[in-house]
Amino acid sequence: MNTEADTLAGSTDAASPPRYTRIAIVLHWLIALLIIANVVLGLSAESLPDDWVRPVIDTHKSIGITVLGLALLRILWRVSHRPPPLPREFPAWEKGAAHLAHFALYLLMIGLPLSGWLHDSAWKDAATHPMHWFGLFEWPRIGYVMRAEPALRESLHDRFGALHTWLGYALYALLAMHIGGALKHEWIDRKSVLKRMAP
Ligand code: HEM
Ligand code: HEM
Repeated sequence: MNTEADTLAGSTDAASPPRYTRIAIVLHWLIALLIIANVVLGLSAESLPDDWVRPVIDTHKSIGITVLGLALLRILWRVSHRPPPLPREFPAWEKGAAHLAHFALYLLMIGLPLSGWLHDSAWKDAATHPMHWFGLFEWPRIGYVMRAEPALRESLHDRFGALHTWLGYALYALLAMHIGGALKHEWIDRKSVLKRMAP
């Protein structure tokens, strides 16, 4: 029998487990791929030859701003839909841990690009080096930060840079739990949640 949650989140019947809607699935995997690509670009920037650094960082910034936009769309989806309920046999602590991890991942989907954007806006050369979204149009810096007096701007640049790095560490830890949890349900519990999010 279909519940209200099933109708909101996707169709189900006895043979097929409830699934996220197509929009939720597309947004999940698009954002996941872009975030992973951005971690690789962010971490490799320092070890690249000089001519590569600028284009790689510019691409990193464009991908990051794209993630910010997509994450906002995804949060709109989330507040207007109920995700398919987790299998009844999962213990309460596991459901609680999954919800907490998902909430933290939403915070990171916003916090990572926002801290990067703030860090970049406080860059001493921000005013003379405009940022272009994939070379197509100018993306604004955060004016208050860009126009702060030099000593404050320098300190903001360091602080937002450190925050950006630390949010990266939080992402690695949460992703390890997130992926580990999905694989545990798949291989140990034999109660797939991957099928709910499979493209
Ligand atoms: C940066 C990468 C990722 C982020 C930010 C992310 C974030 C999220 C979030 C926030 C949800 C909860 C959706 C909701 O109910 O509101 C979710 C669900 C899910 N994710 Fe990810 N995810 C990422 C990568 C992955 C990867 C690599 C896998 C593969 C194992 C995966 C598997 C799943 C599955 C199976 C669900 C559905 C869980 C359920 O049935 O409730 N995710 N993801
Ligand atoms: C999906 C969003 C993002 C992710 C996952 C991400 C991740 C990262 C990571 C892992 C690093 C390396 C940190 C370190 O080694 O200390 C980094 C560096 C950096 N990120 Fe991001 N970032 C994102 C968005 C942004 C955005 C939107 C901007 C600016 C508009 C930005 C600007 C930078 C800059 C300037 C660096 C320093 C690169 C260097 O000089 O080595 N990031 N980012």
